[in-house]
Amino acid sequence: MSELHADLTSLAYLVAAVLFIMALRGLSSPETSRAGNYFGMLGMLIAVLTTALSPEVQSYSWILVALATGAVIGVTIARRIAMTAMPQLVAGFHSLVGMAAVLVAGAAFSNPQAFGLLSEATGEIFVASRIEMGLGAVIGAITFSGSVIAFTKLQGLVSGAPVSFKGQHFLNAVVGLIILGLIVFFAFEQTPWVFWTMTALAFVIGVLIIIPIGGADMPVVVSMLNSYSGWAAAGIGFTLQNDALIVTGALVGSSGAILSYIMCKGMNRSFISVILGGFGGDSSAGAAGGADDRPVKQGSAEDAAFIMKNAGKVIIVPGYGMAVAQAQHALREMGDALKDEGVKVVYAIHPVAGRMPGHMNVLLAEANVSYDEVFELEDINSEFQTADVAFVIGANDVTNPSAKTDPTSPIFGMPVLDVEKARTVLFVKRSMASGYAGVQNELFYRDNTMMLFGDAKKMVETILRNLD
Ligand code: TAP
Repeated sequence: MSELHADLTSLAYLVAAVLFIMALRGLSSPETSRAGNYFGMLGMLIAVLTTALSPEVQSYSWILVALATGAVIGVTIARRIAMTAMPQLVAGFHSLVGMAAVLVAGAAFSNPQAFGLLSEATGEIFVASRIEMGLGAVIGAITFSGSVIAFTKLQGLVSGAPVSFKGQHFLNAVVGLIILGLIVFFAFEQTPWVFWTMTALAFVIGVLIIIPIGGADMPVVVSMLNSYSGWAAAGIGFTLQNDALIVTGALVGSSGAILSYIMCKGMNRSFISVILGGFGGDSSAGAAGGADDRPVKQGSAEDAAFIMKNAGKVIIVPGYGMAVAQAQHALREMGDALKDEGVKVVYAIHPVAGRMPGHMNVLLAEANVSYDEVFELEDINSEFQTADVAFVIGANDVTNPSAKTDPTSPIFGMPVLDVEKARTVLFVKRSMASGYAGVQNELFYRDNTMMLFGDAKKMVETILRNLD
């Protein structure tokens, strides 16, 4: 590569890296997230074009075939995917990043000369390259098999319940230590069996650390795998001597780790335990998911409209069911109608409401709910005691008081929205079924609760008609 070309490449990668950082910055708030996405796309375009134009590329035919295939698959998935299926889609994508890292490391190990990794002095792969290659392959393999397990759990192909057995943590620790030992050994001894054994064991440990994680902890697992996929890409960036991949991988790795940390705090889980895997709650424990025979107070859309019209303050708590029913537009119209009646209306968002981080924020923003009416859990929780109505629409686990009172509950310790402190709690859902964590919600039976059974969108539309 000529010096000028090398300088231009470095400059283009630097611009791409700055754009990625601006993308992350933009994505930190719903108001700037659209711009953040555009920065990310532009950065990726610059990075891909710069790599494609590098003199090492000898033929474009395979690259174009791969680009065209990837583009067709990507566009098809993006157009078809339901917002509620995002977590498994993301897990699926992470598995591809992990596998790509393993394949590149395997290719580099099998043909180091083509990658410029052979030391002329020893005729072997540089020690530093062996460490990078080993780390890339191992983290990639863990990301691949862990993401595949997460995908199958989230897609409902296998049970979301934790799979645990005696001596599990000990086994994980032993396999983890053997892998570490092999990475060190590989740095000293360039032996094929060491490379392939540590890669194979990494596939195994990826499965082992994800199977014991229960349903309620899956959100953290997905963001943790996101972080792993970034570190795998960064490791491979060293092998390929590609600055853009190193920087991008490190950005994904660290932002995924920060997101996991924030979510662990939101769910009151130990960050270290989640990173190491297998310390999630036991979803089979705690109150059973099914409803019992106790009576519940059931109301109609007319009742709900009457109660809310005469309220001073209504706090709306959206959850997964609102997303399924796509009720956000009708909900915003209901909020506007109530405001016209002089009612104060605000929205309360739990950090893990729905099925992906920021799920509710995105839907409310799509329905043009004003950002200054939307509050996070810690900012709104003290307000429920002064609210006349908590209108819980398709949310369940995020309101469940067993998280505060029942140490055997899989969601014990997770902060929840204190909706029961409102004068009246209205629950919009189709049945008495439990939520994602499979735990019965005691609030349905309380005196100040009224159940509004039905599809969230239809129910809100009927309430809206009764507000006129
Ligand atoms: P959930 O606890 O899952 O409850 C959702 C409720 O919505 C269900 O009880 C369901 O009851 C109701 N529902 C479903 N479809 C509906 C429809 N069309 N109309 C009306 N209601 C409907 O949801 P949540 O409170 O948002 O809590 C989220 C849960 O998902 C947490 O356990 C969290 O850990 C987990 N999770 C979160 C994420 C992220 S990152 N947010 C990712 C994966 C998992 P019916 O069937 O009776 O209608």
